[in-house]
Amino acid sequence: MTVASLAEALSALPEVGAWQLVPGSAGGTLLVAGPAGTAGVGSDDVAHAEDEKAVEAAAASGDTAVTGTNLPELPRLMGLLDETALLTMARVLDRTRLFRTPEPCAASDVMTALGTAPRHAWIVRRWLRTLAEEGRLGHDPATGRYRDLTAPDRVAYARARRALDRARHGMGYPESMTRFFLTAADRLPLLLQDRTSLQEVLFPQGRTDTAEGNYRDSAPSRWANHAAAELIAHQARRREGGGRPLRVLEAGAGVGGTTEAVLTALGSAPVDYLFTDVSRFFLQAARTRFGARPGLRQALFDVNADPVAQGLAPASHDVILAANVLHNARHVGRALAALRELLVPDGLLVLVESCREHYQALTSMYLLMSPQPDEERWFTDLRAGQDRVFLTETEWAEQFDASGFRPLPVLPPAGHPLTALGQFVIAGRPRPGHGRPDPDRVARALAPLPGATRPVRVHAVDRVPSTTTSGATR
Ligand SMILES: C[S@@+](CC[C@H](N)C(=O)[O-])C[C@H]1O[C@@H](n2cnc3c(N)ncnc32)[C@H](O)[C@@H]1O
Repeated sequence: MTVASLAEALSALPEVGAWQLVPGSAGGTLLVAGPAGTAGVGSDDVAHAEDEKAVEAAAASGDTAVTGTNLPELPRLMGLLDETALLTMARVLDRTRLFRTPEPCAASDVMTALGTAPRHAWIVRRWLRTLAEEGRLGHDPATGRYRDLTAPDRVAYARARRALDRARHGMGYPESMTRFFLTAADRLPLLLQDRTSLQEVLFPQGRTDTAEGNYRDSAPSRWANHAAAELIAHQARRREGGGRPLRVLEAGAGVGGTTEAVLTALGSAPVDYLFTDVSRFFLQAARTRFGARPGLRQALFDVNADPVAQGLAPASHDVILAANVLHNARHVGRALAALRELLVPDGLLVLVESCREHYQALTSMYLLMSPQPDEERWFTDLRAGQDRVFLTETEWAEQFDASGFRPLPVLPPAGHPLTALGQFVIAGRPRPGHGRPDPDRVARALAPLPGATRPVRVHAVDRVPSTTTSGATR
């Protein structure tokens, strides 16, 4: 199938106003929206008073979870972690000796000197850009070259590493996080060359305590996990007496930092809780940890693959939870549309997402986010070609809206001291499909196109972004 033959087939469907072909396995996934102006905001779109109350209760639950933490102090502590990361980047670059001469050099020279694996090249580009933005590296926009690096001496760097431990403690991260941050910093040259992996640093000898501390115990995570848990508990109460357990799908559940808060908030409410991750490693750990909880099952699930092909039925879940996961979707619009179809009409999607690019991640967690060595493309959505992973709160709101979700107010609320750290709970409910095409009808209309390259799935959305593989038919 060529894009032209797809465009031609779609132009014969009056209900399709715009479309986008998202690359993926076989023929990819097709997003279709109705003609411009048909995806209206209906009366059901007005924020429900009940949801407002649930969001308030969730914020209160988050606050209770961090009682005793000096919240206004946290941005300063995060700043210390970021400062150490900046000094670490500068030190690694300084060791290439490229910046010890007045000769400016290109990003590609730096990557060659560091022996950077192609999949991690974006991280080095981000280091250069960040150091230039912070005034620690000269950048000539005309030539794109860099010079005049300001790198710390041994004493200044040792001081910054000590400050990191104090900041880590103040933010509520466990002691093992200091070892994690410092070991990752020391191994950066090897990590960039793919001669060792960050998984080995984060999960030493398969242990999960550092990751648990990161996603469960730090003050921002505790706040977000408890707020998310309260939203889900509210959903359980809302449909109490519905005659069946609350059906929850958790994607990318990992070490279960959020799972634990959710199961606690649900108490003895009957649940059918599908704990999933793309990696089998976490499923085994979850069996050991939560095995005794009735109603908890484990399964593999990849947010980048078609849920139906992975055995999940449409409209089969009351809640979908994805904590610190959905930025891994190569196309968040496609992933959101697919998740929306798994939810019942009054279902709830709850995300926890980092919406700020912390420098600390540039010398640690980002090493986990590079494309796989055999992955042809990386992000194919609004992040394509931008060397970034996270979406802002505003971008998430736009993506929710375009994919057919009515967003709930984002948490923490405006003015809360934790908003400065940029970790948010972003939730939404499926919006009825005002003017959305029927995906099954679109798929039937495409059936005559050559099989191997036909889109594997069609999702109806409220808007599609315009790209080269998209079109507006009317
Ligand atoms: C940052 S961890 C978050 C863990 C957990 N949700 C928490 O907050 O405690 C990200 C998790 O997403 C999983 N993950 C990464 N890519 C994924 C994908 N394509 N589909 C599903 N899960 C994925 C990872 O294996 C990892 O467990």
